[in-house]
Amino acid sequence: MSNMNLDRRRFLWASSAIALAGASPALGWAGVAVPERSYPRPQLKAPGERVSLDQGWRFHLGDVPFPKIRGHGWSYANAKAGNAQGAASFEYDDSDWRELDLPHDWVVEGPFDKDENLAQGYRPRGKAWYRRALRLDPADRGKHLSIEFGAIATQATVWFNGSVVAHNWSGYNALQIDLTPFARYGDELNSIAVRVDADLMEGWWYEGGGIYRHVWLTKRAAVHIADDGVHADPRRDAAGRWTLPVVATLGNIGSKAEAVEVEAQLVDPWGKVVGAGRVAAEVPSLDQAEARLVLEVASPRLWSVDDPALYTVRTRVWRGGQQVDEAITSTGFRTLRFDPDQGFFLNDQSLKIQGVCLHQDHAGVGVAVPDSLWDFRLRRIKAMGANAVRCAHNAPAPEMLQAADRLGVLILDENRNFNPSPDYMRQLEWLIRRDRNHPSVFLWSVFNEEPMQGTEAGYQMVRRMVAAVKRLDDSRPVTAAMNDGMFTPINVSQAVDVVGFNYQPDRYDRFHAEHPNLPMMSSEDTSAFMTRGEWFTDRARNILAENDEEPSSWGTTHRKGWEAIAKRPFVAGAFLWSGIDYRGEPTPFEWPSASSFFGAMDLCGFPKMAFFLHRAQWIKDRPLLDLAPHWTWPGKEGQPIKVMALTNAEAVELRLNGRLISRQAVDPFVMPSWTVPYAPGRLEAIGYVGGKPVSKAVVETAGPPVALRLTPDRTVLTGDGADAAPITVEALDKAGRPVPTANLPVTFEIANGRIIGLGNGDPNCHEPEKGNARSLFNGLAQVIVQSEQGSSGVMRLSASAPGLRSAQVQLTVQPGALLAEPRTSPVSILSDWRMSPMASTRPDPLAKPADNDMNSWTWAKPGTLQDADPGGGFVLYRLVFTPRAKVRRGGGKLVFGRLTGPAEVYVDGVKVAAKPDAAAGALTMALPAKDGERTVAVLMAVAPGQPFGMGAPVVVEEVG
Ligand code: GAL
Repeated sequence: MSNMNLDRRRFLWASSAIALAGASPALGWAGVAVPERSYPRPQLKAPGERVSLDQGWRFHLGDVPFPKIRGHGWSYANAKAGNAQGAASFEYDDSDWRELDLPHDWVVEGPFDKDENLAQGYRPRGKAWYRRALRLDPADRGKHLSIEFGAIATQATVWFNGSVVAHNWSGYNALQIDLTPFARYGDELNSIAVRVDADLMEGWWYEGGGIYRHVWLTKRAAVHIADDGVHADPRRDAAGRWTLPVVATLGNIGSKAEAVEVEAQLVDPWGKVVGAGRVAAEVPSLDQAEARLVLEVASPRLWSVDDPALYTVRTRVWRGGQQVDEAITSTGFRTLRFDPDQGFFLNDQSLKIQGVCLHQDHAGVGVAVPDSLWDFRLRRIKAMGANAVRCAHNAPAPEMLQAADRLGVLILDENRNFNPSPDYMRQLEWLIRRDRNHPSVFLWSVFNEEPMQGTEAGYQMVRRMVAAVKRLDDSRPVTAAMNDGMFTPINVSQAVDVVGFNYQPDRYDRFHAEHPNLPMMSSEDTSAFMTRGEWFTDRARNILAENDEEPSSWGTTHRKGWEAIAKRPFVAGAFLWSGIDYRGEPTPFEWPSASSFFGAMDLCGFPKMAFFLHRAQWIKDRPLLDLAPHWTWPGKEGQPIKVMALTNAEAVELRLNGRLISRQAVDPFVMPSWTVPYAPGRLEAIGYVGGKPVSKAVVETAGPPVALRLTPDRTVLTGDGADAAPITVEALDKAGRPVPTANLPVTFEIANGRIIGLGNGDPNCHEPEKGNARSLFNGLAQVIVQSEQGSSGVMRLSASAPGLRSAQVQLTVQPGALLAEPRTSPVSILSDWRMSPMASTRPDPLAKPADNDMNSWTWAKPGTLQDADPGGGFVLYRLVFTPRAKVRRGGGKLVFGRLTGPAEVYVDGVKVAAKPDAAAGALTMALPAKDGERTVAVLMAVAPGQPFGMGAPVVVEEVG
C-alpha cells in the first residue's frame, strides 16, 4: 500500500481560473499595497445574464413556526406542490419584517452573552427567515432561470412559489437551483422563502448566520452553458508545449434536441485573441451534453505569485448562426510540482510556501465580507510577505479566489465535511467544479485533523474522496491536514499526494526518513498568542504580550515554527495559524475574550509583531526593518523594556536619543533584541548589509492625543451599493505622531454612504460592531464604509472624540451600477381559488366545499380562462386569505385584473361589487381595514359555449 501513488507524486500539475481585471497597487499605510482606483468589480461569468439578487430582502430574526395543520382539506392541500404553509407560503405576510440587502450575517449584529458558545464568539445564533418577491419579465419565458445562493449559514431550506426547491447541509456550499419549471411571469410575481437554522454548527470557530454570500439570478437561453459549466485547464506536455483543453457542459430545457456550435476564444492579458476553436454539439431535450475543444497556445505568459498574468476564456454557444449564450472564465498558465526532497515548484522554480491559514470573518461585518474587503485582506497578507492562504476549514467565498488570482496568492482550497457519503460527496464535487479553473488554487484538502486519520476507515474514506477530486480535476495534488496517525500501519497519508502536517515539527524528520518519496508540508503550525499593542502579559486581564513568548501547548513560537520549516527543504512550506484573528476560539482564555489571539494581524487586519517578524523573514527583495515595541511608556522611566528589531538586514545598530546601544548580527530566525531602560525620546535602528546601511526604523515617544486621523484604504469607491472600504482611525499627538496607547471613544458621522461595521482588534471588547461609535484599542480602530446604491460624488466620514480635534475624510464615489434585479414590492396575490361545479341555478354566495371533498370543487388559478361550457350556468369562486398587516390596519384595494363574464364579488358574505356585462374587464373595490381572515367569493354567470373566468391576477393593494 505504501507504494501507491508514488509515480503520480512526481507529476506536473497545471491548471487555470475565473478572473478579473487588475488594479495597480501602490504602497500605503503600514506597508499595505493600496489600489489608487476603485475596486475592480468581478467580471461576471455571463455578462448581461447573471444578475445580482442581493437587494430587497425581508428578514425575520427567530423561527416562524409552521401552522399546525388540521382537518382533511388543509392536510390534503398542504401536501401539494406550491402549497407550503406559514412563512414558506407564497402569500405569507412579511410586511412587518426588516428590509435589508445581502450579504447579511445576523449573528454579528447580536450582543455578547456569557451563556453562549465561546467557540462561536459568545454570540447568540438561532434561526431566522428571509423572503423576497421577484417579478420575472414575460420576455424571460422560455429562458433557463437559476438562482444561486453563494452560501447560507448554517443549514437552510429554500422554497420558491411555495415548493421546496433546496435543502443545504453545509454553511459553506453554494445552492444552485433551477427555477424554470416553477416560474411565473409578469404581475403574478414569484416568492422566495429561506429558513435558516444557525443553531447547527459545523465548526469550532465563528460561523455567522444568514445568507452571507451573494445571491445571483441567471437567465440563459433554453440551450445554455450549465452552472459552473466551463472547465478551462491549461496543460503543458513533456515537450513544453501548452494547450488549453476547454470542456463546456451544456443543458437544454427545450422540447427537442438542439444542434449547436460551441466556440472558445482565449484572450491574453492585453486583450488580444490568441487562440480560438469551434466544435459542434447535440444537446438532448432536458439533458446535458459536453462540448470539448483544445486550443493551442504558443509561449503563454505564465501566472505566478509575482506576476499573476490572467487570460480570459470566452465560451460561446451558437444556434442557427445566432449566439445564444456566453460564459467568461479566466485562466492562468502555470505548472505545479511537489518534490519529496526539495518541496514545491511553481513554473519549475522552487518556491517555499509562506502561507497563512484564514477563517472568513472580519471586524464589523462578520462573515458577510464585501468583495472589496477580500481584496483588502489578501493585500494585507501579501504585504506580510505571504504567498499562500489555506482556507480553514471550508470552501471560501468565490470573490476571495478572484482576488487571489488577480493579486497572486496561492490557495489551499479545503473541503469542510469529511464524509464520502452521497450528500457530502456532492459538497466536495461542487467545490472542485466551482474552483478548478482558478490558477491560484494549487492544492485541494479533503479534511482538517480528523480523528479517523490513522485508521483503515479514514484511509478508505480519503481514497474515495481523492478519487472524486481526480475525476473532476487531475491537475492538482490532494492533501489532508493530519495532526496525528501518520505512523500507523494504515493511514490517510497513504492516500494523498502531499501529506499535510498540523503542528508536530518533531515528526518532520522521522516521517521524511520513513517516507522519502512522499512530499510533505506544514498545513498548520505555530498557534502562538498575541494581543495587538500589548507588550506585557497580564493573564488576569486576558492580555498576552506581542513579544512572541506565548506559544500554545501544542504549537510553537512564531520564531521556532518558521525555523523548523525554513531549515528543511523537504518541508514544502508553512501555513501559519493564523494570518488574521477571527471571532471565537479565544484560547487560552474564556469570557470575556470573544475572539482569537492567534493572528499575525488582529480582526481588523492591523499588524502585530508577528506580521513584522514574518515580513522580515519572507520578503527578500527589498530591505526591511521594523522596531518593536512602540516607545511611549509614561511612568516606566528607567524600567527595562525589551526592544526587538525585525529585519532582513545582516546587522542592526540601535540608538536611544542618539546614543549607541549596540550593533548586533542578525539571526533571521531569532532576530536581534535588547533590554533598554526606558527614557522618552527617539529609538532608532539602522540595518546593515555588507557593512553598509540599507534600512532604518524609528519609534518616538508620543505625547497626549490631541487630534484624530482617518486614513482610508482606498480613496475612490464605486457607487453601486456594494463597494466598501476600511478606514483606519488613529489618535495623534500635537506633533502629529500616532499615540499607540490611546484607548478613547470615537463617534462617526457619514454623508453619502453608510457605515457597515466597526472594530478595533481587541479580543476582549464587547462594544457593538454596528452603529457609529467605537473606541480606539491601543491607538487604532477601523470603520468600514460602503457606497449607497446609485450614489456618486463625495462620501464624507467624520470622526470625533471628546477633547480632540475631529477628523474628516472624503472619498470619491464614481457612478457605477451593479447589474441587479430591481427590488419588488410584495403585494398580496390571491391565487389559490376553489371553483364550484357548474350549477344550473344561482348558488348561495356563502357556499363552500366540504372539507373532505377534494374533487367536486377544483383549484383555479387566475391568469387562464376556464374552458367554455356547452350548457352554461353559474360558478362560484372562493378564497380565504389574511391581508397583509398594512391592509388589515389601514384597508386596501381588491383588484381583479380581468373578469370575463358577468360577476358579483362578495367579501365575508357581503356583496361589495358587481360587473353586469359579459365582456372582459377589470373590477376594483375597497377592502376595509379588519383583522383576521377574509373570505372572498366571486359568483359568475356563464354563457353557453363562452370561455369565462379570471384572466389576470387578483391582487390586494395597499393604500396610502
Ligand atoms: C488546530 C485547528 C485549528 C485551530 C487551531 C488553534 O488544531 O486545526 O482550526 O483550532 O488548532 O490552535
